[in-house]
Amino acid sequence: MRIGILTGGGDCPGLNAVIRAVVRKGIGEHGDEIVGFRDGWRGVLERDTVPMDLHAVRGILPRGGTVLGTSRTNPYALEGGPDRVMATLDELGIDALVPIGGEDTLGVATRLAESGVRVVGVPKTIDNDLDSTDYTFGFDTAVGVAMEAIDRLHTTGDSHHRTLVVEVMGRHAGWIALHAGMAGGANVILIPENPFDVDGVVAHCQHRFDSGYSPIVVVSEGAKPKDGDLMLTTGEKDAFGHVRLGGIGAALASLIEERTGREARAVVLGHIQRGGTPSPFDRVLATRFGLAAVDAVHDGQSGVMVALRGTDIVRVPLSAATAQLKLVPAERYAEAEVFFG
Ligand code: F6P
Repeated sequence: MRIGILTGGGDCPGLNAVIRAVVRKGIGEHGDEIVGFRDGWRGVLERDTVPMDLHAVRGILPRGGTVLGTSRTNPYALEGGPDRVMATLDELGIDALVPIGGEDTLGVATRLAESGVRVVGVPKTIDNDLDSTDYTFGFDTAVGVAMEAIDRLHTTGDSHHRTLVVEVMGRHAGWIALHAGMAGGANVILIPENPFDVDGVVAHCQHRFDSGYSPIVVVSEGAKPKDGDLMLTTGEKDAFGHVRLGGIGAALASLIEERTGREARAVVLGHIQRGGTPSPFDRVLATRFGLAAVDAVHDGQSGVMVALRGTDIVRVPLSAATAQLKLVPAERYAEAEVFFG
């Protein structure tokens, strides 16, 4: 078979592990030909391809980013985009497509599958917000990076008797903040799913100072106060209509400083969370997803996404996985609240 593969959306540790697994299993076990599209859907629209043979995937397992490149190109936002995608697949003789991405990339995949393209999706995102899978790869690595940062900030915060506010990614889902904050022993965790009360945050910080230590506040970039709006660094939107989040950490730090009378600083972890080598968990999950995607293609499946349920890799409808985001349930946030203050 001729299998097309692409990586779309934000880069994410583990993308190369999926690519390697698809190539190794596709070529090694089935004699497939794997065609890589550069920069996500842009490569399909512009017929920008790279042959993915065994040599192309040698040594890429531990590498972050994606050897195929990525973009946030949305064929459905472009005049004639879907037709150009169909024409490329037809002319290159692609039998099946394996797009690796989050809600946007797989949202395009869902629509293409509905139009008759044979598609098997692979879920990736550091945000862990794709529905129908327990975890996406990349999340564990991002949480590890954020946790290490929090560990380091505890010591500098305590030495200087100041509040440290750590702003993490996650867009509209608080998974990174929740897990990194719990693992790093944060004194307050703020997530988009629970608009926060500024008085409550200040009280937790004050309580921490009163007990002789300095507070660490982990805030998700999409968190907002009960009576306020999302913080935006720019008004720009990407091709999928997402605004660029950021700035809540600095805003909160200045409020906390004003209200506690003690210095507060903000640290924005940003793309550090997405870069670098994947954790062992992410390497294994990404590899298993890649192997399972090839199996699904050869089983004649389409319109499905490989997913993690417990410890099993299963197949779920793409349409179900992309219908809504997987957000942090109230009871998971309540577990973290036990440690606030
Ligand atoms: O979806 C992954 C993610 O890192 C989000 O957490 C973040 O809001 C967004 O991508 C940032 O995207 P970009 O790198 O395009 O600014």
